[in-house]
Amino acid sequence: MNRRQFLARSMAVAGTDALSRHGFNLQAQTTARTPAPTPNQISTVSFPDNFLWGMATASYQVEGAWNEDGKGESIWDRWTHTIGKIRGGGTGDVACNHYHLYPRDIAILKRLNQKSYRFSISWARIQPSGRGPVNQKGIDHYKRVMDLVLEAGIRPFCTLYHWDLPQGLEDVGGWPNRDLAGYFADYAGILATNLGDRIQVWAPFNMPWSFTNLGYGTGVFPPGRAKYTDFLKAAHTVNLAQGEAFRSIKAASSRATVGSAYGMCPAYPKTDSQADRAATARYHAMNNLYFLETAMHGRYPDAFLGEVPYEAMGCRAGDDKIMKVPLDWIGFHYYSRRFVSAAGQAAHGSSENLATETQDTGVAGNQYTQLDAEMPTEGPITDGGLEIFSRGIYDLVMQITREYNHPIIEITESGCGYLDAPYDRDGGQVPDSRRTTFFRSELAELARAIADGARVRAFHAWSLLDNFEWNDGYTQRYGLTYVDFRDQKRTVKDSGNWYGRVAAANRLDV
Ligand code: FCB
Repeated sequence: MNRRQFLARSMAVAGTDALSRHGFNLQAQTTARTPAPTPNQISTVSFPDNFLWGMATASYQVEGAWNEDGKGESIWDRWTHTIGKIRGGGTGDVACNHYHLYPRDIAILKRLNQKSYRFSISWARIQPSGRGPVNQKGIDHYKRVMDLVLEAGIRPFCTLYHWDLPQGLEDVGGWPNRDLAGYFADYAGILATNLGDRIQVWAPFNMPWSFTNLGYGTGVFPPGRAKYTDFLKAAHTVNLAQGEAFRSIKAASSRATVGSAYGMCPAYPKTDSQADRAATARYHAMNNLYFLETAMHGRYPDAFLGEVPYEAMGCRAGDDKIMKVPLDWIGFHYYSRRFVSAAGQAAHGSSENLATETQDTGVAGNQYTQLDAEMPTEGPITDGGLEIFSRGIYDLVMQITREYNHPIIEITESGCGYLDAPYDRDGGQVPDSRRTTFFRSELAELARAIADGARVRAFHAWSLLDNFEWNDGYTQRYGLTYVDFRDQKRTVKDSGNWYGRVAAANRLDV
């Protein structure tokens, strides 16, 4: 499955009177276009002095060393070792060998003037089967990595879970089993106790909607289960786990701050009809707010067409109190936008601008959300298959700013997949000008949101390195550094060097 299909599957879903509760006001898609910023506009863009320029990675995508130093098997090890799951037969067994080569990679971050490094910890390195005794070698490894990051003057941002569940926990039922909330809280406590002197910025989950939906609802990601009510249960456990982890991190480390790394897509009603506007609100509630509203207010957002299916979700009395943990800051990714319509009304491959990404809710057993979400193709499409829509980051940041009363925001990921490679005539440099153009336009939109009052303090480019791109294996390159997977040579791309200058100058015309 390619990135486009991956996102097509990530999009279906989500009640009705959310329109007013969330102050929903993105315009219908027909009016949602803006021209790219001109060079003149770019030259006037600047960022606040203490803005945190950063880059992101994830354990399974970069570390390799899949069975070293006592690490247990994860669901991604099991999945990639199953024939037919990954494009080109790729696995994360070696990946970028970041487990051994991290000093090189941290040196790149330093050379590019980065202020924040977002990485994730592999749970199976810390507790090989997800429960029980701590593997000291795993803890020691991350201590060494953190020491180098801190020595380079870079803030570590730790994601506790970027999809690599210990297989031992899938074997006892995976995320639909609510016991996992307690196991996750134990793991979070272990991390905060052992690493809390080095790490103060924590996000429990990367893109919780995606890994629960794709893993248990549609089955295109491991563990490959496909039942909508399993997704509902998994998502509820993750909401409980987020609350429990928040408390155990804070109990173990008084300096800790806890936020998030949600995947969000700004959503626009496909037409101005009441039905499409209501479907768009449901999409926003399900895709963007399903783990945020629960944390901030202890309640589910209006993501369903009818009543909230508490029973199917496995909710119990008192769960609202467990879930409610007002986050210290809100982190989310931006990649692309969606046009949303009431179920059954999307154009299937026919209309002029909506050709490719059409997909209805389509998950077995989902009678709950009744909507279609499409990624438009009006803008340029990257090699990764995503439409470029720079203004989306402005709309999304402003929407969250309004709906959650001006929170501190971190952009935890954004980036683009392009296949540019080292070029002899450029002395082996990687002339990936499309990626620079992408970031320049998007960052101009982010600066506009800051100028309009949004409290955005950080931006993390995805990614420091070309890496293992999930079901797409090594066929996509999102890095600002090129990695030759034959010999692990790293070459910072032209976009990476540009981004390094931006980080030093806090400006885009560098
Ligand atoms: C995000 C994931 C990240 C990476 C990028 C391209 O959805 O969080 O791991 O795959 O997409």
